[in-house]
Parts: sequence; structure tokens; C-alpha cells
Amino acid sequence: MARALILGGTGAIGVATALRLRAGGWDVTVTSRDPALVPPPLAAAGVRHVAGDRGDARHLADAVGAGADLLVDAACYDASHARALTPLLADVTSTAMISSKAVYVDGAGRHSNSAEPPRFPGPIEETQATLRPDARTLEAGAPYGSAKVAAEEVLLACGAPVSVLRPSKVHGAWSRRPREWIFVRRVLDGRDVVLLRGGGRGADHPSGAVNVAALVETVARVPGTRILNSADPDCPSAGQIAQTVAAALGHRWREVDVDVDDESDVGRTPWDRDPPVTLDTRAALALGYEPVGDYAATVREELDWLVATARQPGGSRWLPPTDDPFFAPLLDYASEDAYLAR
Ligand SMILES: NC(=O)c1ccc[n+]([C@@H]2O[C@H](COP(=O)([O-])OP(=O)(O)OC[C@H]3O[C@@H](n4cnc5c(N)ncnc54)[C@H](OP(=O)(O)O)[C@@H]3O)[C@@H](O)[C@H]2O)c1
Repeated sequence: MARALILGGTGAIGVATALRLRAGGWDVTVTSRDPALVPPPLAAAGVRHVAGDRGDARHLADAVGAGADLLVDAACYDASHARALTPLLADVTSTAMISSKAVYVDGAGRHSNSAEPPRFPGPIEETQATLRPDARTLEAGAPYGSAKVAAEEVLLACGAPVSVLRPSKVHGAWSRRPREWIFVRRVLDGRDVVLLRGGGRGADHPSGAVNVAALVETVARVPGTRILNSADPDCPSAGQIAQTVAAALGHRWREVDVDVDDESDVGRTPWDRDPPVTLDTRAALALGYEPVGDYAATVREELDWLVATARQPGGSRWLPPTDDPFFAPLLDYASEDAYLAR
């Protein structure tokens, strides 16, 4: 039986990949730090879990053991992580390192996490310029995108077949940051209005975890050293995402257009890029990757998971707390009501 090891395998991408590989007959082991946050479907499917920190060299060597047919690194955040892995890849047939589209810079040096948003003239190809690598650890202050570039460079130069996958905004069940929560929470709270900046015309390419998993399986079949964008076949706008969630959950609300220049957070969503940020996925398709489905089809699993988890006793440990710094400003009903009353 082919063996797969997924480092950082209890989040959205790890779970989707583990379940897909298991369904395909693979022997699958996942690692993560917190045993209390191992999604139950993994054990139910026969996926093994090994607790440990990706940064602990002994844990990493033990987890890789005598090698694997596929190693997926979903917790490779900086050059130190990559350097720790490369000596262990001699007996690994194919490695998929999960990087990020946050590595890309536009012509003015702007990127996903810059103060000013990037403006790309069209779909981003893998040859697009990236941030300069920063070989420091995240803890030592390396910015996320620059540290990912440094990790990519180490792995691409190591001589083993490593596919660097660059997803965009990941969605999927068991995500640690399920962005669609900003709309699902609203539905559960019975809000009959949704506010959208610029009418929700911004877009930032979604990447369904199940589609990333399909690409991982492709690079397992076709080992090689390459960089591949990983995103859904379509790129819905923020407004279309709101409509998709409402329709999936059988909810109706009134859409209110918020002026793009309004200085508050009212109407902001995680997908407000205008011009839209989209990834060119032709290289993945040319390799034989077949997406599982478009955004509306693949996001259903996350939506059903969010609703079921919110209703389940003790489910809150999987969900963002009300004071979560990312979600709280996007779910600030008091500010929205004050805006509506202006
Ligand atoms: N989510 C996105 O929108 C997005 C976009 C682009 C790229 N990515 C990349 O995709 C990868 C995985 O993303 P995801 O969406 O599946 O993440 P996720 O839902 O946040 O899950 C992260 C996983 O990594 C584990 N993990 C984190 N730090 C670890 C460590 N030091 N040692 C061992 N395990 C660790 C977590 O478990 P524990 O916390 O229990 O250890 C969890 O299993 C990351 O490399 C991320 O940079 C994500």
C-alpha cells in the first residue's frame, strides 16, 4: 500500500488530502501539535495521527521514518522548516510543499500583506515576480510571504522531486480560519441584511481544500520539481460568495452597498480585492489535475460543517471565538446598524 505523510495534517488542506488519499487506498499518517484538535473523520477513515511540533527535528525524522511515496508539508512556513526536511527526502518519491499566493508581488512591489493592496493586470502565472526571500524564522520576524519564498527556494534546490503548490484563499471543513463564517454566522444570527463594500465586486481567488487535495494527488502520480498555482476553476466576487452562502443555507437578506471609501470596517470581507486577484491554473491542468468542482460546489462541505459544528454541544472549540481579531471586525453588527441608521 502506498504511504503518505502529511505534516500539519489536521487543518483544511491536510484533512481534505488525507481523506482523498485514504479513499484512493493510501496508507495515511498526519501530524500536528494539538491532539485535541484532530478532526474525528480522520480516525474514522483509518488515518493515523502523530502528535508533534513541525519544528522539532527528532519528531520530524521519526515521522518520516524510512520514507514515503508522498510527503505533503502543510506546515512549512520558513527556511528553517525546509532545511530540516531536505535531508529526510532521499526516500520520498514525491513531496508537495504547500506555499501560498502571498509570495507574489506586482510591478510596484505590493503583495497580499502589504499596506496597499496589489494590482495585478490579469491572472497571476507561476513566473510572476515574488517577494525577496527572508531566511529568518517567523518568530525572528520574517514576514509570512518572504519566509515562504525562502522555504520554497531551499526545497526547489534540494534535488528531490518537490512540487511547490501556491493556493490562494483556502476554504474547507476543519479550517482554522473558515472565512465564510462571516456569512454563515450572520445566517445563524438571523440577520436580514448583508453590507458589502463596493457592492461586493472585489474578488480574491478561492482555493477549495478538496481541489488542492486533487492537485496533491496529481503530483503524487507525476513526481517532479516545479511550482503550481492551486485555485478553484472559478473566481466568484465577494458578493457572489455572500449569495452562494445564503442560497446554500436557504436564507434571504437585503444587500446594502457600502462606499469603497468609507473609513470604517463596515461591509469589508476577506475577498475585497479590486481589481480581482486571480491565479492562472493552466500549469496544474496541463499536468493532469482535475478539479473536484467549482466554488459553489466545493464550499458546501465547509458550510455544512460550520452549521453542524455551531449547533453541536462543545462545537465552539472548532470555531472562531466572538472576540477573534480577524472575524470580530467583520461581524460587528453594532457598527453596521449605526451605518444603516446614518
Ligand atoms: N488557509 C489559507 O487560506 C491558506 C492560503 C494559502 C496558503 N496556505 C498554506 O496552507 C498550509 C496549510 O493550510 P491550512 O489552510 O490547511 O491550515 P490550517 O487550517 O490553519 O491548519 C494548519 C495545520 O497545521 C498544523 N500546524 C501548524 N503549525 C504546526 C507546527 N508547528 N507543527 C505541527 N503542525 C502544525 C495545525 O495543527 P496544530 O495547530 O494542532 O499543530 C493544522 O493541522 C499552510 O502552510 C499555509 O501557509 C493556507
